[in-house]
Amino acid sequence: MKGKFIVFEGCEGAGKSTQMRLLSEYLKEKGVAHVVTREPGGGEISEAIRKIILNGKFTEMTDECEALLYAAARVQHLADTVEPALRRGDTVLCDRYIFSSYAYQGYGRGLDMRFLRDINRYAAEHFMPDVTLFLDIPPVRAFERKHGADENDRIEQAGAEFHEKVYRGYLRLAEEYGDAFVAVDCSGTKYETNGNILSILRCRGLIA
Ligand code: TYD
Repeated sequence: MKGKFIVFEGCEGAGKSTQMRLLSEYLKEKGVAHVVTREPGGGEISEAIRKIILNGKFTEMTDECEALLYAAARVQHLADTVEPALRRGDTVLCDRYIFSSYAYQGYGRGLDMRFLRDINRYAAEHFMPDVTLFLDIPPVRAFERKHGADENDRIEQAGAEFHEKVYRGYLRLAEEYGDAFVAVDCSGTKYETNGNILSILRCRGLIA
């Protein structure tokens, strides 16, 4: 694959959208062709699956069903958005990817990691990101920033304890994956965080 695949991860309200926008502006200035996309979603079918997964009315959805729907949306999104872009040589900036499944469905819901690795094998074997940037902000602070949880969003409604487990899961993933999953210091302003991200990407030769 010719293009670079850069993934953003973090708890709700960690500032992923802002950081993706700042990086996209930087790439635009430098004339780097790129695609900004998100999971679950990014294409027509995956966006339809997203509406089912996040629907606040579906309180009886099992954790396994949830995990399988995320994996299904992922495979479709890879086929219709990510793979074509990488083949063209574009850089792909993706809001969330398999590490969200490991953190939310694995560490958060408590599903077996082997099950999650199995259902995500296609993504993990064929489309591992060049780097995953984890915006490291504890969920309590992140929710404060976004003024509380969205009452129509099933995952945001999962409660503080759930989001704390997700955060701790992310920290474990950072230890486990080393260089491929980097915790970004977000303690400064959004521009300082953007600066941290640019240096990480430059160090790895992912941007000029
Ligand atoms: P979204 O509104 O995009 O949240 P955010 O703006 O915080 O990224 O909704 C995506 C939700 O789906 C978010 O709560 C995280 C969750 N999620 C999982 O639980 N597992 C996954 O594999 C993915 C991709 C997302």
